[in-house]
Amino acid sequence: MSLVFHLIAAARPNFMKIAPLYHAMSAADWCTPIIVHTGQHYDANMSDSFFDDLGLPAPNFNLEVGSGTHAEQTGAVMIAYEKILMEAPPCATIVVGDVNSTVACTLAAKKLCIPVCHLEAGLRSRDPQMPEEINRIVTDAISDILWTPSLDGNENLLKEGVDPDRITFVGNIMMDSYELMRTQIEATTTRTELNLEKNMYGVVTLHRPSNVDTKEILVSLVDALKSSATKIPLVLPLHPRTRKNLINYHLMDDLRAAPGIQITEPINYIRFMGLVREAALVITDSGGIQEETTYLDIPCITLRPNTERPITLTEGTNQLAKISELPGYVDDVLMGNWRKGSLPNLWDGRTAGRVIEDLKSRLG
Ligand code: UD1
Repeated sequence: MSLVFHLIAAARPNFMKIAPLYHAMSAADWCTPIIVHTGQHYDANMSDSFFDDLGLPAPNFNLEVGSGTHAEQTGAVMIAYEKILMEAPPCATIVVGDVNSTVACTLAAKKLCIPVCHLEAGLRSRDPQMPEEINRIVTDAISDILWTPSLDGNENLLKEGVDPDRITFVGNIMMDSYELMRTQIEATTTRTELNLEKNMYGVVTLHRPSNVDTKEILVSLVDALKSSATKIPLVLPLHPRTRKNLINYHLMDDLRAAPGIQITEPINYIRFMGLVREAALVITDSGGIQEETTYLDIPCITLRPNTERPITLTEGTNQLAKISELPGYVDDVLMGNWRKGSLPNLWDGRTAGRVIEDLKSRLG
């Protein structure tokens, strides 16, 4: 008999995390993965294009919750997912990452006594202002199995009093996605289509509310990007949140007209990684991109005061920065004044296999 597991997909960064797991579970004869898309991200270029890229089938369920305040979104996912769980409960629910849907599905499943496994457990920014930090803490507190990407995750969980038996260090699943798609990523032509020279441009992704929701901060960000673009061309695939705010605050025309800046729509996974792998530097406030740049040994300037992924600072190529410090750090990269990273333990493209082995051994 094949055991059924729900894989929760919700927002763009989740799709690359469930893809390697979906493919590995589909290949095993003892388990069946069922994809539940909550609909937190719904634009074609934030969702469908990633499913296509990653070879994922259409979701078995789509809750279509869409956007809203934190409580609206979290509540809507809980209500919709509970109905599915009551109709056909899985053997366990597997959640990934730290978005609102992650915590919502965890709560809905646990209240029905359905086991929950959290992939990418234990990460902590220690920043309570960050909505994802709340999602991470709550999800880890009540999940049954905690799969960590790096050993700082294990330490954080143990400090919080988690029973060590619940924790398994499996490594970083994002590297599995890259290795699964490496051939296609290396064949992309995004860079030449944008008229960029190899290793002579920067890729910028910014979407955190703390950077893009307040006018004053967004103005300083636009200025720092314009100043940085005088040193090296920058390409900005814009997240819908950032696009909306640039338009609302009347900053879009200024940014678009700046020399050295190219604005694009969000780019799908394969084309985006193709662009990143040949970049001189990346400027971001994303979580996953801090890890991908460490994997690819590309300098990453993270415009945040903290990170839940400290291993990218201690072992990788990542540097936290204030917005005002951005042009100076760009100069450092261009002068070759950047540390060379090393690869964190178990970031080897074989995490999905370890997850499945762990699941199997725990089920006996
Ligand atoms: C969410 C996650 C964040 C993750 C990010 C990746 C939470 C709290 N945040 O942030 O951790 O880093 O995804 O992208 O879960 N929108 C669209 N189309 C879409 C999706 C969003 O237009 O397909 C717009 C809507 O105006 C929406 C806004 O973007 O209100 C924000 O979307 P939301 O899912 O609430 O948060 P993100 O900023 O994407």
